[in-house]
Amino acid sequence: MRFSFASASSKLPPEVLAALTTDVVEWQASGMSALELPFTGEDFADILAQAEQELWALLQLPKDYKVLFLQGGASTQFSTLPMNLAGEAQPCDYVLSGHWSRRAIEAASNWCNVRVIASGSEGSLPEPASWRRSPDAAYCHFTSNETAEGLQYHDYPEASSVPLIADMTADFLTRPIPIERFGLVYASTQKNLGAAGLTIVVVREDLLDRTERAVPASLDYARQAAASSKVNTPPTFAIIVALRMLTWLRSEGGLDAAAARNIAKSGKLYTLIDEDDFYRGLASPRDRSSVSICFRLPEPELDQLFLDEAHASGLCHLKGHPNVGGIRACLYNGVTAEATLALASFMSDFKRRRG
Ligand SMILES: Cc1ncc(COP(=O)(O)O)c(C=O)c1O
Repeated sequence: MRFSFASASSKLPPEVLAALTTDVVEWQASGMSALELPFTGEDFADILAQAEQELWALLQLPKDYKVLFLQGGASTQFSTLPMNLAGEAQPCDYVLSGHWSRRAIEAASNWCNVRVIASGSEGSLPEPASWRRSPDAAYCHFTSNETAEGLQYHDYPEASSVPLIADMTADFLTRPIPIERFGLVYASTQKNLGAAGLTIVVVREDLLDRTERAVPASLDYARQAAASSKVNTPPTFAIIVALRMLTWLRSEGGLDAAAARNIAKSGKLYTLIDEDDFYRGLASPRDRSSVSICFRLPEPELDQLFLDEAHASGLCHLKGHPNVGGIRACLYNGVTAEATLALASFMSDFKRRRG
């Protein structure tokens, strides 16, 4: 048995893989593979409508929100966002909390006047109460889960007159989201919702038409919303994978149940980390993530030995982010309790032998 704890792409539940295997052979008596469906046809229109419906149900979306199914990954959103929502000289507030928010800030700086309104310190996120939010900003952006450092906001910031925007790539649909506080949230799907190639944007309608810039049509929120995300060919198969994941999430009890599963899984590893000084968590207990568990061992040589022995035991893709090092276990929606228990048991055993 092999278990993957990769950051991307992540594991898919066996039930989802089984459904997709059938879909690839034939999509629901259509006489065609799910890979062959024309994006302009009725079958695909139905798939998009179902995926949207599932998201509406899971997120309990208010009526004035739109769901966009886009390409380019979350990294493209780093630029698409200011292109669509801000003028070149307009201030946009950004929270700097780690690797991915830094990348978002760097990209946005080419398109708007970025103001960093709060910065984290090692192992800690800047608390929302300390953010210097200003009323003249086009929006306020933060990263709900910093995947490289293993940091996660457990309390979402309050809404204000300035639209609140979150990169939720690492923890989208791993827990309930008070969506009405947000102007826009975005997430690429290869971690918690299936395959690479799809980026979901949930946006409040009043933000769709905020720009006078010439935005490329496929990146233009208003045009994509008007065209039901079909300005150009959407990532059809990744959308089918997301639909299967969404249906699975609902059948497994929705977002409250997903949160409970993720807290239980991560709790197994944090219990070991908290036991003594052998496994050293990178994040402070207040801000540690329930989906990206990052830690080091007492010496860098032990990190490598841990990775080698874990791999030999079938526990794969545990190397930390290149900018941070150490060990990282990603416990996204598709990672099972069984996989997490196998890792916890390996960690106990490794500590007994090497500690
Ligand atoms: C929080 C966060 N934002 C953005 C990204 C980049 O996503 P993509 O590879 O889809 O551009 C990642 C990837 O790991 C991430 O964890």
